[in-house]
Amino acid sequence: MDAALTPENSEEKETPGSGARVAIRAMRPEDGMGVLEIFAQGIAGGHSSFESRPPEWRDWDAGHLEICRLVAVDSTSGEMLGWAALSPVSGRCVYGGVAEVSVYVSERARRRGVGNRLLAELVESSEKAGLWTLQAGVFPENTASLALHDKQGFRQVGLREALGKMPAGPLAGKWRDIVLLERRSPVVGRD
Ligand SMILES: CC(C)(COP(=O)(O)OP(=O)(O)OC[C@H]1O[C@@H](n2cnc3c(N)ncnc32)[C@H](O)[C@@H]1OP(=O)(O)O)[C@@H](O)C(=O)NCCC(=O)NCCS
Repeated sequence: MDAALTPENSEEKETPGSGARVAIRAMRPEDGMGVLEIFAQGIAGGHSSFESRPPEWRDWDAGHLEICRLVAVDSTSGEMLGWAALSPVSGRCVYGGVAEVSVYVSERARRRGVGNRLLAELVESSEKAGLWTLQAGVFPENTASLALHDKQGFRQVGLREALGKMPAGPLAGKWRDIVLLERRSPVVGRD
């Protein structure tokens, strides 16, 4: 768990227009079910992932870095509003500071700044942990995710054409392009 973002030092801020206070805190083991539920909502939209269903928690857990796992919660009700986490992009030592972003916000909490809060804090947390590049692969149709990453300083590296085929669901068999996005830290690894 990321020592830089423990539940004790999580921040609470008003999310504009929502009337709710949103806290960002480190993910806890008991958050697993909520994380997978929100992941399932994103998958159901058809434009967030090649996955056709959320994995088992142990597979999600094994596939993500233990550091920099964040959740956004309604600080009044405790309800989980979203999460952000990182996956390694390579086992090679030279890429040890490069990770891939996942950020998911529950359907009912979207367009209220929760994604912005999560991704901003993920970037900060990743820099504290010494990571130098965050990348994201986004379907071109996912205008919300493209806007979110742009807002948080990711640049579009390029369009990866027909990178993968949807394995299941309404778009099964369709080849999908992926926009490769990247944020190079201006402060980590500049020596
Ligand atoms: C992508 C996602 C995480 C954005 O979260 P969010 O909490 O709704 O985003 P925010 O309210 O913080 O908005 C972030 C920016 O994106 C813009 N945005 C959000 N939704 C948008 C949409 N549907 N269309 C266009 N722009 C959108 C906002 O205007 C905002 O930009 P601004 O700060 O300049 O106004 C959310 O839509 C989601 O969970 N989608 C399904 C899962 C997914 O696709 N995850 C990304 C996988 S790559």
